[in-house]
Amino acid sequence: MTEDFDKIYSEALNNKEEFWSNIAGAITWDKMWNSVLDTSRSPFYRWFSGGRINTCYNALDRHIDDGRADQCALIYDSPITNTIKKYSYKSLRDLVARFSGALANQGVKHGDRVVIYMPMIPEAVVTMLACARIGAIHSVVFGGFASHELAVRIDDAMPKVIVSASCGLEPGRIVAYKPLLDEAIKLAKHKPIRSIIVQRDALVCEMTERDLDWNDAMSEAKPHNCVSVDATDPLYILYTSGTTGQPKGVVRDNGGHAVALNWSMGAVYDVKPGDVYWAASDIGWVVGHSYIVYGPLLAGATTILYEGKPVGTPDAGAFWRVISDHKVSKLFTAPTAFRAIKREDPAGKQIKKYSIPSLKALFLAGERSDPDTLIWAEKHLNVPVIDHWWQTETGWSIVANCLGIEKLRVKHGSPSKPVPGWDLSVVDEGGKEVKNGEIGALVLKLPLPPGSLLTLWNADERYHQSYLTEFPGYYQTADAGYLDEDGYVYVMSRTDDIINTAGHRLSTGAIEEVLASHPDVGECAVVGTNDALKGQVPLGFLVLNAGVNRGGDQVVNETIQLVRDTIGPVASFKTALIVERLPKTRSGKILRGTLQKIANSEPYVTPATIDDPDILKEVSIALKDSKFSTEI
Ligand code: COA
Ligand code: AMP
Repeated sequence: MTEDFDKIYSEALNNKEEFWSNIAGAITWDKMWNSVLDTSRSPFYRWFSGGRINTCYNALDRHIDDGRADQCALIYDSPITNTIKKYSYKSLRDLVARFSGALANQGVKHGDRVVIYMPMIPEAVVTMLACARIGAIHSVVFGGFASHELAVRIDDAMPKVIVSASCGLEPGRIVAYKPLLDEAIKLAKHKPIRSIIVQRDALVCEMTERDLDWNDAMSEAKPHNCVSVDATDPLYILYTSGTTGQPKGVVRDNGGHAVALNWSMGAVYDVKPGDVYWAASDIGWVVGHSYIVYGPLLAGATTILYEGKPVGTPDAGAFWRVISDHKVSKLFTAPTAFRAIKREDPAGKQIKKYSIPSLKALFLAGERSDPDTLIWAEKHLNVPVIDHWWQTETGWSIVANCLGIEKLRVKHGSPSKPVPGWDLSVVDEGGKEVKNGEIGALVLKLPLPPGSLLTLWNADERYHQSYLTEFPGYYQTADAGYLDEDGYVYVMSRTDDIINTAGHRLSTGAIEEVLASHPDVGECAVVGTNDALKGQVPLGFLVLNAGVNRGGDQVVNETIQLVRDTIGPVASFKTALIVERLPKTRSGKILRGTLQKIANSEPYVTPATIDDPDILKEVSIALKDSKFSTEI
């Protein structure tokens, strides 16, 4: 029986404006909107035009005004530093208001950008909300990116101020952030006027003229009020991998974002004010933005900021300890985290050590959920395990089993059905809908619902070109999949060069750009290869320049280091194969599908499925004498 779900889905589809204006009533507006859906610049649609709002007010002050001042808003749980700290809505608001004053003291005002390059510490959340409070636009850069990637984002966002920390903590090593930050500022053309630095006990960094200590910034500051902004003003820019080395700056607004995220907390996750909700991700990713920071706080829930890994900090029971200590009701993470736990504790012995009756559901996203992992989680946790599909661009889930509306039957391998607000079709190359069961491009009819991307930062044309051109009238997700006879969606693969590594989104094209910059590399290609823990990891194929007579292994190791230094450790680039040449079609196009098959064969061999003799010859010449390098 799916009456409620179907009813709400059709309301959202057929009476968009009425549907979303009713939902928007749950948010506090400084001024009501003139139009719910503004089509005047289509396909650049805007929601709640003319409305005025403050996202930070809605995430913090509103709950204090509603009598929730003492309720816990944020729990910082850091097994890596052995720290647990709790912040009530009032204490978090007071910190945020004061840091807003600190940013204002540096001249940061409405519309200015602030880059945040920080580990998973409370000051990172405080900074995001402080930007929202004064109408500044934050851009969080994941800590696993190296200086070059940070510099590219600095040049694109042109921040007035950067907020960072002396270090991040990864198991077994301290990541000194400050030298990475300083190097990035050196590499970037744009220079921020100030870096505000949180000094952490594990590593105190040197300060330069540009730097200001977080504590000094706070002690000099007065609390700042919420600044009312247009609903359509940007709240944040979040860079994500595109098909080149230039990342895409996804822009999210204030009004539509607050409305959609607040609604999704109830509708998708079945979370009510006061519930404890935990997204085990990182604030550098969209999951962290939407479901560590904004979603749970907008909904008046308690959110958890976890600085650690699912395993090894201290063991495979790390997640169950957090759930038990803080009475977590909903957990959201990437399947890779569960693969890591399952690998260490296949029999689920650690789960039995903890009392976790508070846990009511597990949500997975970020990559395809392999049925093995999903079934393992169902068996050992004994709660619904909900796969849901979304992207940095969409900001919240496109396809899910909406527990807060009506729990649908779970079909392993499918994230279930399109969420109310999203109008999904599966189409062939010509844009024609395909039959159920046939694979095609997953596209979303415009306009997208509130909360999805407005455009790309300073790149309207690139936004249009990347997402709206191939299938006019639709947003192209760049995922391929199919629908079954019950309307369940199956997401199978990307149609572009993006791969998902440990739930992190990477562009193989961007890695190729780095490899090609090595003086001994003549030509290269990178494809994803299956990995039991991370889902996929990049594998490089390198053709060396004629006359290179150094050992191939040496070049391979240098390229691995080059990717680590340029993109960052997050790229997980640890293997490369030296080949005679890259297999290509007669017209000179690299046979990527063939490379993909080779990458996924063990050992690396010519795929048996190639029946074109010319291509077969190409591939065997290409692979002749190839060398395979293991990890450094
Ligand atoms: N700052 C600096 N370095 C970082 C970092 C950060 N914030 N995050 C990761 N790294 C480093 C890691 O230390 C690792 O370095 P190494 O090559 O020296 O080992 C490298 O980047 C790759 O990181 P990752 O792919 O995350 O591998 P991992 O072995 O550290 O952890 C998992 C693997 C599966 C345990 C971890 O990725 C995980 O918990 N993922 C699930 C949750 C999640 O983050 N999902 C994202 C979107 S929902
Ligand atoms: P990101 O922008 O980092 O969130 O990555 C988005 C991409 O991850 C999507 O386009 C998909 O390719 C993949 N993805 C996310 N969630 C799922 C899911 N539940 N099932 C399959 N693929 C997913």
